[in-house]
Amino acid sequence: MKIFEKQIDLNAHLKSISNPNSTIGFVPTMGALHSGHLSLLQESIQNNAFTVISIFVNPTQFNNQEDLEKYPRTLNHDVEKIKTVSDEIIVYAPTVEDIYEGHTVSQHFNFDGLENQMEGQFRPGHYDGVGTVVKRLFEIVKPTHAYFGEKDFQQLQVVKKLVQKLKMPIVIVCCPIHRESNGLAMSSRNERLSDSEKKQAAVIYKILKTAKTKFKTKSASTVSDLVSKTFEAIPTITLEYFQIADEVTLLPCLRKNKNKKYRAFIAVFINNIRLIDTISLN
Ligand code: PAF
Repeated sequence: MKIFEKQIDLNAHLKSISNPNSTIGFVPTMGALHSGHLSLLQESIQNNAFTVISIFVNPTQFNNQEDLEKYPRTLNHDVEKIKTVSDEIIVYAPTVEDIYEGHTVSQHFNFDGLENQMEGQFRPGHYDGVGTVVKRLFEIVKPTHAYFGEKDFQQLQVVKKLVQKLKMPIVIVCCPIHRESNGLAMSSRNERLSDSEKKQAAVIYKILKTAKTKFKTKSASTVSDLVSKTFEAIPTITLEYFQIADEVTLLPCLRKNKNKKYRAFIAVFINNIRLIDTISLN
């Protein structure tokens, strides 16, 4: 398996193995890989001549220093997991210097308002950081296809907007959420949860499924109130937000429109560990 720390070496390798017609699938990650990431790799391998994965904990997308410091960094384990999918996958695990070249700041983006909802509201500057690193990674890897998980649905919409605005010839592919057997959405942050916290966290998906059922007959605000009340009765979990929003604009659903697709979004804290999840509602 080829592992590169420097973009110059990655580029030389890609140039030596590919031709202008080769498809390159790209899976950008921050490491601490789980089976959700491995499914993105599988999807890429099945559909492209080459697959590149990046493993880079991007400092500019963290608005909370503690979250950045505690973010799991498990490169050796990650490489072992990637090998279980294929030895042919190319790993790009750069340093901060290789990505930011001495200037570790975000570019400012206008994603037509997508960046201001939910995660953008609670994590100021987050999508400038995501946009900056994803743009940089796309420029370095030059993929034809890039794979993102549906769990970060807002990120997925932001990345689609980024390639559209920058006219980058990259197909953005959305892959389904992978869940633990108890329904907890797989996330690198789950590594920080104790076994008992993982059990408690199963309630997040249960509540999302209940919200989906209720939304068939009730308004978005009624469903949101029900969800808030449910979390008030769970002292170990703090609800940061629950939002029912239009899938395309990500604007809150004020009145249901049968021609629109809606989705529920949630962020909670369990013992200072922040977890997000989402479910399609109609
Ligand atoms: O989803 C993630 O892991 C990150 O936000 C990404 C897309 C790799 C950018 O750092």
